[in-house]
Amino acid sequence: MNAPLDVVTGAFSYSGGYVAERLLAAGRRVATLTGHPGRPSPLQGRVAAHPLDFARPDRLAESLRGVDTLYNNYWVRFAHGGMTHERAVRNSEILFQAAAKAGVRRIVHVSIANADPGSDLPYYRGKGLVEQALKAAGPSYAILGPTVLFGGYDVLINNIAWMLRRFPAFAIIGDGRYPIQPIAVEDLADLAVAAGAGEGNTSADAVGPEVFAYEDLVRLLAERIGRRPWFFKVGPRAGLALAAGLGLLTGDVVLTQEEVDGLTRGLLKSKRPATGRRAFKAWLAAEGGDLGRDYHNELKRHFEGGETEWEPS
Ligand SMILES: NC(=O)c1ccc[n+]([C@@H]2O[C@H](COP(=O)([O-])OP(=O)(O)OC[C@H]3O[C@@H](n4cnc5c(N)ncnc54)[C@H](OP(=O)(O)O)[C@@H]3O)[C@@H](O)[C@H]2O)c1
Repeated sequence: MNAPLDVVTGAFSYSGGYVAERLLAAGRRVATLTGHPGRPSPLQGRVAAHPLDFARPDRLAESLRGVDTLYNNYWVRFAHGGMTHERAVRNSEILFQAAAKAGVRRIVHVSIANADPGSDLPYYRGKGLVEQALKAAGPSYAILGPTVLFGGYDVLINNIAWMLRRFPAFAIIGDGRYPIQPIAVEDLADLAVAAGAGEGNTSADAVGPEVFAYEDLVRLLAERIGRRPWFFKVGPRAGLALAAGLGLLTGDVVLTQEEVDGLTRGLLKSKRPATGRRAFKAWLAAEGGDLGRDYHNELKRHFEGGETEWEPS
């Protein structure tokens, strides 16, 4: 008999790759839904790729037929070009309906801590609406809400380190005392795979054991990579103007208004118990030496360039 088949969205991208590796190690078969089937990844050749094409729900359902568990982490970090959070909500609904139509047993859905359908922030509101759509879709579900991930190809932590390496000064937005509770990408993947093995409908945050004030975390990063920039405080507007300037330099969207709002309102900390076990400080000491050597560009990765066109199959 064939091993059970799971589908992971974005297995050639970031956290989905860690989930796929664990499923393969457990003897399961894994396929991915992705917009980047040819992206270099150690999973190439071990994971079949199908298009994450929301314009073709029937093809999505076909790709999900015979699948036991769908691990969904599809989302967009910010609105850009024609892509908006509202559209990402609709796309997520299409994906869940395709999974229900295909008879998928369970959906493990990666959301965000403090998702709220009533939020004035489109990211958090969208994530809240997607959770509602998931609950109505039919298959059993497990929701995991991370805050910010660290390890591997993370964006936020790595790019802060990149700035610390390159500039003699670093701007802290606001008082810098707002909390941040990072989780190791490996912990998120462990939680996801454990949730996939369950049956009932569940919801938990995916957050690590340590909470830092944002400024303290930035200072820890600076210390680890041997930099001593001048830290200065700015208001959100000036911070975003600086980030826009950096965006010109990097060809990326470095920071959005919404991310500043989420951060300064304390939304990067969970109100629920910690579920991750790997400590950020220990990871930083062991593996943080190369942080920020390269810039991790969200626009290039997900919105433009470097894309592999789908070959008709
Ligand atoms: N990374 C964090 O620090 C963090 C923090 C809190 C919550 N989360 C949540 O955790 C989940 C996984 O995050 P991740 O960082 O691991 O995501 P990711 O691997 O970068 O992307 C996950 C999936 O979303 C797709 N995607 C991303 N941006 C897209 C865009 N602009 N247009 C079309 N498709 C797009 C990717 O498509 P491709 O397969 O084509 O690449 C991939 O299938 C997400 O739901 C995210 O909101 C992440």
